Amino acid sequence: MAPETPADDASGAAVPTQAFGVDVGGSGIKGGVVDLGTGELVGERFKVLTPQPSTPEAVVGGIKEVVDHFGWTGPVGVTLPSVVSGGVVRTAANIDKGWIGTDPYPLLASTLGDRGFCVLNDADAAGMAEDAYGAGRDKSGLVMLLTFGTGIGSAILFHGNLVPNTELGHMEVGGKEAEHQASSKVKDDKEMSYEKWAKHVSTVLNAYEDLFWPDLFIVGGGISRKADKWVPHLTVRTPVVPATLQNTAGIVGAAMAVTAGLRP
Ligand code: BGC
Repeated sequence: MAPETPADDASGAAVPTQAFGVDVGGSGIKGGVVDLGTGELVGERFKVLTPQPSTPEAVVGGIKEVVDHFGWTGPVGVTLPSVVSGGVVRTAANIDKGWIGTDPYPLLASTLGDRGFCVLNDADAAGMAEDAYGAGRDKSGLVMLLTFGTGIGSAILFHGNLVPNTELGHMEVGGKEAEHQASSKVKDDKEMSYEKWAKHVSTVLNAYEDLFWPDLFIVGGGISRKADKWVPHLTVRTPVVPATLQNTAGIVGAAMAVTAGLRP
């Protein structure tokens, strides 16, 4: 699929109306064409299993499969569960450690052809998408998105502008890493009730709000689908809302990031 004919913005400059995002996780590589006007996918998303071991070469092969499935020829945004700074992958949570120190851009270009790419952290992408099209849509000020899964991902946006790679899941709270006490994996591993787990989440969110004074917390990850079971138990002063884009947020944010020419 070729990118849809660009529309003109007020200045007459061409702005794309569609873009492509790929969300790489420990178990799946998911992608789709994103309508930048609505933040919705054009058609279904497509997923392949993350190859094991999930080396850069193998994962980029999976990304190519997803992109080729749609016949997409335009720019591609890619998320990784990693810190990406200065164009280099610095950490690797739930993917092969061979990513660390890798510059993914030449590898993407040699595999998918020379086109625009953006590689960014998965939670940062989800935060951009939720802020623009989801739970943060009509909210202004400082928005913090936290994703609860195997770890805790974080994104901070101020009036829509991302501060990349905040990695607040690794912040020490009460002598312990936040994601070691309040990820949804911890809840599952320790068979905690929602109420008990919400106490740990509150401890972590209290630490975040004392430091950053956000106007809104958006809570994402699979467990946000059951938000009614735990969000009411949270004891935080900042308003908390569940993410609304669910499993498309990473794809949508990646598509936004490549369109914006972001290069964290
Ligand atoms: C990683 C982050 C990532 C988050 C969610 C954390 O363990 O350090 O980079 O955003 O998990 O995948």
